[in-house]
Amino acid sequence: MSTDGSPVDLAVIGGGPGGYTAAFRAADLGLSVALVERHSKIGGVCLHVGCIPSKALLHAAKLLSDAEDASEIGIDFGQPSIDVARLREATSTVVGQLANGLAGLAKRRGVQIIQGVARFGSPNELAIDAPDGHRTLAFRNAIIAVGSEPTELPGLPNDERIVYSEGALALGEVPERLLVIGGGIIGLEMATVYDALGSTVTVVEALDQLIPGCDSDQVVPLAKRITRRYGAVHLGTQVGAIEAGVEGLAVVYEGGDDPPPPATVDGVLVAVGRRASGDLIGAELAGIEVGARGVIPVDDQMRTNVPHVFAIGDVVGDPMLAHKSSRQGIVAAEVIAGKAASFAGRVVPSVAYTDPEIAWAGLTETEAQEAGIEYEASAVPWAASGRAVLQGRGEGRTKLLLEPESRRILGAGIVGVHAGDLIAEAVHAIEMGSDAEDLALTIHPHPTLSETIGMAAEAAEGTVTDLYLGRRARAGG
Ligand code: FAD
Ligand code: NAI
Repeated sequence: MSTDGSPVDLAVIGGGPGGYTAAFRAADLGLSVALVERHSKIGGVCLHVGCIPSKALLHAAKLLSDAEDASEIGIDFGQPSIDVARLREATSTVVGQLANGLAGLAKRRGVQIIQGVARFGSPNELAIDAPDGHRTLAFRNAIIAVGSEPTELPGLPNDERIVYSEGALALGEVPERLLVIGGGIIGLEMATVYDALGSTVTVVEALDQLIPGCDSDQVVPLAKRITRRYGAVHLGTQVGAIEAGVEGLAVVYEGGDDPPPPATVDGVLVAVGRRASGDLIGAELAGIEVGARGVIPVDDQMRTNVPHVFAIGDVVGDPMLAHKSSRQGIVAAEVIAGKAASFAGRVVPSVAYTDPEIAWAGLTETEAQEAGIEYEASAVPWAASGRAVLQGRGEGRTKLLLEPESRRILGAGIVGVHAGDLIAEAVHAIEMGSDAEDLALTIHPHPTLSETIGMAAEAAEGTVTDLYLGRRARAGG
């Protein structure tokens, strides 16, 4: 590292999917790059305490629920035996393997990884608190990729049975009765895991809809399934107080005229959103503007108000998703290397890896109605899909939103098993400016769930044969 004062071309602060992608791309473009990460391994929230461990546990949850569903077709595996310690070990093996892969990629590219907590000392220098002492790093350009932290819920007792996502992923104990505060993506993904592991789950959501970012009609199949399986799902409800006792955590609810009665639980997961970490890095010493809730404002080249300092990923605000972070990392690296790049970012798909999964991309009906945008919606139930029905998962639904005149696809929402994989076709269609006819004339393999996208487009065109639309049908073609 440049302890001798000679500046690196690029200093990256934070080694999550935004930071390491930016560092790797910049090194590939010939820049000298140092990446400062406070933890001993790069990978960030996503790899160590986010996307990867949560999906590893959701994979286990799916095996359990598939085995349970198998009894419907005459295959009975009996009561599963779950070794939580081995499950925990398997998850950390996966994380370790991927982390080693990243370390190898950094080494082969000549990216210097510096362990330590970085803060700006001036517009061209970082002050780093490293395990072996304090040092400085001079840079010509910097990318801030310090991510986000969970939003804390004030007034809760300090009790180890009350955890945030990282604590829930650590899989300490599987509580008999688990309360999940927040019916957003983290809350519902972790509820899926703990339900499969045997907890009786209660979900409390302040708003009147689960996963509020997504259209309410697309949430219905998930809401139906979890209302059947879980202890309770309370919408429009908040937690008024929690009192820690030997017998459990006594919870009092608030909300509306008729809040649910008090209850006692054995564990609580708080998942009420995340806040950006832009106000924790001494940005003021470099003259970098930081907005509300730690968000650093940037332009579409990911540049802050200080021209040689860029910011990417969760720290620049919603949507806080790994694939947005890494794309922005590429854009920032390319701009610094002198290439013409920018982040269009209109279509960043979102996926809740619940059971069933919920995925959406581009315009939602809620957004269209709020903004007064004209649109046409075409939705098909998965009861029309042989593949969905043969899996016993005909509850899904695929919806496309179109611009009425041009028939271009503006948005898509899919709920059902594997929705997260299926949404990619709609994302590509939106990016390519495809219209409904393009999708309707695309031959989808049979029998697959992907056919539901073709069917939704055919329904919009009035040419669908797998559904009977009656008088809604047009001659089409
Ligand atoms: P981060 O991954 O947060 O990385 C920031 C890095 O900066 C961290 O490693 C941190 O240690 C380091 N850092 C911070 N401050 C300093 C400092 N001063 N000095 C040095 N280093 C510092 N997104 C998805 O797209 N799909 C998912 O399935 C998904 N699942 C998730 C599940 C959970 C439980 C959680 C919590 C999040 C999930 N996310 C998911 C969100 C995803 O993890 C984030 O959007 C993504 O990690 C953001 O990447 P980033 O590079 O911006 O920041
Ligand atoms: P979120 O914003 O998705 O959901 C939080 C929920 O909590 C909201 O529905 C909100 O209305 C509710 N809430 C807020 N205060 C409350 C209160 N006091 N009582 C009850 N409910 C309350 O945030 P979440 O789930 O914490 O996740 C944070 C972010 O992490 C996500 O927005 C997403 O960006 C990222 N993430 C992405 C995943 C994915 O892509 N699959 C998985 C997990 C996280």
